[in-house]
Amino acid sequence: MGLIVPDAIERYLASLNHAGGGVLDDIARGNRERGLPLVDAEVGALLRTLAIAVNAARILEIGTAIGYSGIWLAGALPPGGMLITMEMDEARAREARENFARAGVADRVSVVVGDAQLKLAKVSGPFDVIFQDGDKQQYEPMLDRLVALLRPRGLLVTDNVLWDGEVAPGFAAAPQRDPADTHAIAGYNERLAAHPDLLTTIVPLRDGVSISVKRAA
Ligand SMILES: C[S@@+](CC[C@H](N)C(=O)[O-])C[C@H]1O[C@@H](n2cnc3c(N)ncnc32)[C@H](O)[C@@H]1O
Repeated sequence: MGLIVPDAIERYLASLNHAGGGVLDDIARGNRERGLPLVDAEVGALLRTLAIAVNAARILEIGTAIGYSGIWLAGALPPGGMLITMEMDEARAREARENFARAGVADRVSVVVGDAQLKLAKVSGPFDVIFQDGDKQQYEPMLDRLVALLRPRGLLVTDNVLWDGEVAPGFAAAPQRDPADTHAIAGYNERLAAHPDLLTTIVPLRDGVSISVKRAA
C-alpha cells in the first residue's frame, strides 16, 4: 500500500476495479515478493481509461519494466494501433515481450531496448498518449521532447509525481526517498505546471499521477 491514500480507500478502490484479470493478475501476484516498482492496478485502469477516452491509436511508454503497465495500455488500442515502449534493462525487456505475448497483445507492442533519452531522438510522433514512468531524474530533461512528440490534445501521463508525498514540504516527518529524486520530481512538477503547451492536473492516486493535455495550437 502507498503512503498517500489511506489503506481502507485503496482497498475500496481495488474492490471496484474489475478491469484487470488474467495475465495482469499473474504479473501483479508474481511481483509481490519481487518488488519491482510497477504501477498498481488502479493506475493501470486509469491509464487504460485515459487511452480509450482520447481514442489512442499510438502510445509511447518510457519504462517498460516487465510489461505490466504496457498491457494495461495496449488493451486500449484498436486493431492496427501501436504501443512503443522503451526499457534499458535487457532482461526486463525480454520478460516484457513474453508477458505481451501471454496477454495476446504482442502484435501491437514494440519494445525498444536502450536508453530512452537517446532512443527518443529517433522515434517519430505524433503520439496520442505518452506514459512517462522511467528514471525520475530524467523526467525533466525528457519533457520538451515528449511534448513535441504528442499530438494536440494528446495526453502526457506521469507516474510517481507525489513520491510518497515527499515532494510536498512538511508531509514526511522523516523522508525516506533519495533527495536527488525528490528534488528532480518537484522541479518536474513545477515545469509541468508552468509549461505553456500543457494543461496539467495531478491525481493523488497511489504515488501521484499527473495528467497533462497538450494545448491545441
Ligand atoms: C518504474 S519502472 C517501470 C514500471 C512499468 N511502467 C510498470 O508499471 O509496469 C521503471 C523502468 O524504467 C527503466 N528505465 C529507467 N531509466 C530508463 C531509460 N533512460 N531508458 C529506458 N528505460 C529506463 C528501468 O530499467 C525500469 O525498468
